[in-house]
Amino acid sequence: MTEVLAAFSPVEHAVSAAMARVLPRELSKRDPLVRSSEHADFQSNVALSLAGDAGMPPRELAQALQRELGGSAVSSTVSGPGFLNLTVADAQLWGQVEARLADHRLGLGLPLAGTRTVVDYSAPNIAKEMHVGHLRTTVIGDCLVRVLTFVGGDVVRQNHLGDWGTQFGMLIQYIDEHPEVQWRGGTAEPGAGEQVSVLDSLYRAARQTFDADPAFVERARLRVVALQSGDEVTLGVWRELVEVSTRAFQQLYDRLGVLLTEQDCAGESTYNPFLDEVVAELVEAGIAVDSDGALCVFFDDLTGPEGEPVPLIVRKKDGGYGYAATDLATLRYRIRKLEADRILYVVDARQALHFQMVFDTARRAGWLTDDVEAVHVPFGTVMGPGGTPFKTRSGGTVRLSELLDAAVEGAREAMAGKPHDLTGEVLEQVIQAAGIGAVKYADLSTSRAKNYVFDTAQMVSLQGNTGVYMQYAHARVRTILGKAPKEALEQPIDTTLPLHPAERALILLLDGFDAIVREVARELEPHRLCGYLFALAKALTDFYGACPVLKAETPARRANRLALCRLTAETLALGLDLLGIQAPDRM
Ligand code: ARG
Repeated sequence: MTEVLAAFSPVEHAVSAAMARVLPRELSKRDPLVRSSEHADFQSNVALSLAGDAGMPPRELAQALQRELGGSAVSSTVSGPGFLNLTVADAQLWGQVEARLADHRLGLGLPLAGTRTVVDYSAPNIAKEMHVGHLRTTVIGDCLVRVLTFVGGDVVRQNHLGDWGTQFGMLIQYIDEHPEVQWRGGTAEPGAGEQVSVLDSLYRAARQTFDADPAFVERARLRVVALQSGDEVTLGVWRELVEVSTRAFQQLYDRLGVLLTEQDCAGESTYNPFLDEVVAELVEAGIAVDSDGALCVFFDDLTGPEGEPVPLIVRKKDGGYGYAATDLATLRYRIRKLEADRILYVVDARQALHFQMVFDTARRAGWLTDDVEAVHVPFGTVMGPGGTPFKTRSGGTVRLSELLDAAVEGAREAMAGKPHDLTGEVLEQVIQAAGIGAVKYADLSTSRAKNYVFDTAQMVSLQGNTGVYMQYAHARVRTILGKAPKEALEQPIDTTLPLHPAERALILLLDGFDAIVREVARELEPHRLCGYLFALAKALTDFYGACPVLKAETPARRANRLALCRLTAETLALGLDLLGIQAPDRM
């Protein structure tokens, strides 16, 4: 499915067209091998790569291509053993700015139209705190959803909540025996953080009793049986637990500005009715086999450190189903019922083996075919200030809501330390946008697979590759546009004006937006978009330094530069939006 995400720039088109006139058909279809270059706008070494097959010396082939490019908007020189140095004509580049500005999608295509992607992300566990580990899946998943949707994909968001399992027997039994515990939340709506912590302490108290009292363990076990056999009272408490947790999660999602809603919740319990059937199918096909009373799937290529087989346990010895059986049923459901072409699991890298086994089993069962792509999209761990796994001073997990508070406070200080004329509610909104944006950007700008240190001071810094820096770059260019006279903004671009090198650099970057967005959609790596936006913001700064905008030498130049500012502002805003980050007009 991802082949449709390949990008083909105007320069690649030009070189391809020249290839078609010089080379035999089968060779002219090859990649024109165009890359950015220090010596010109682009360089292609296609002549070197195809010379052998074409039976021509590379330099001669390069010269033939150069001649064919002669009449186009791309001029070329040949250097070294046969490199083609490519320079795009000024008028062509201004024309591209004009075309992109006239399109509200900024020239981005819809390559994923007609395809469906399921994105499994966030997936916190009911009655537990959403902790810093859930930040990454939520933020990365949200960005991927936005990018895939923007390029035309039909995206189905799935929040695979941990809402089923034996721990609910323990919880519900504890609640039953301790009517004095107030876990439902009072009349005054508590904040998301507080409400989940109430549930979290409930969970911990239940766990303690469970670990200390064998008689309670037995009562909790009976409660699991009651839950699974559909006992109404037990189910009622379970539903309430799910509801209270989900509401608190939703408050956090809203605060984070992620697209998840309650409609996207499809927790583990959703697949409960299919587990028997799914496992029976695996047994019948001989894929799941008895091993010491449990039902397991074994894999030829998977062994532990001592060479022992590592099984996927689909049914435990006691007859209970667990995480694996649920994921098998879920995958089958997503293929058959949701009719997904691509299924993404944005889940911690430590679950790689689990997904490898689940996908492999589904392939053997014939559910997962070559027409469907199932991908584990893993990510690294968020570390605390010391570079060790994130914990509170007392060794507990750090609450996500506290981290957001800390980042917002950091943003407040950063705003206080710089000149601006914002006050009241507008200022407060900017501070919130900056703080939340800082957390998201810090997460998204780190290469997905890497661990990173959660450092609030660094995140809200106005320097470097940070969310605040990016938002600031955007607000600054909007401010310039706000100061421009109306007639200057409305004046059409004069494509005959020669380009300043800083203008050229900025336009070439703007032209690369489509390719970057497609790349993120293909490789599922948001940090590439962050890197692109950072480069764009830097090119914008260089441009300001070299080219006066409001004080440009002539009205035509001013109009052209304002158009360039406007396209950059729109690109930064759209880029930030695809990351799920707000771009205030003033900061
Ligand atoms: N609830 C799980 C956790 O917190 C993540 C679930 C991920 N999705 C899935 N289909 N297994 O670790």
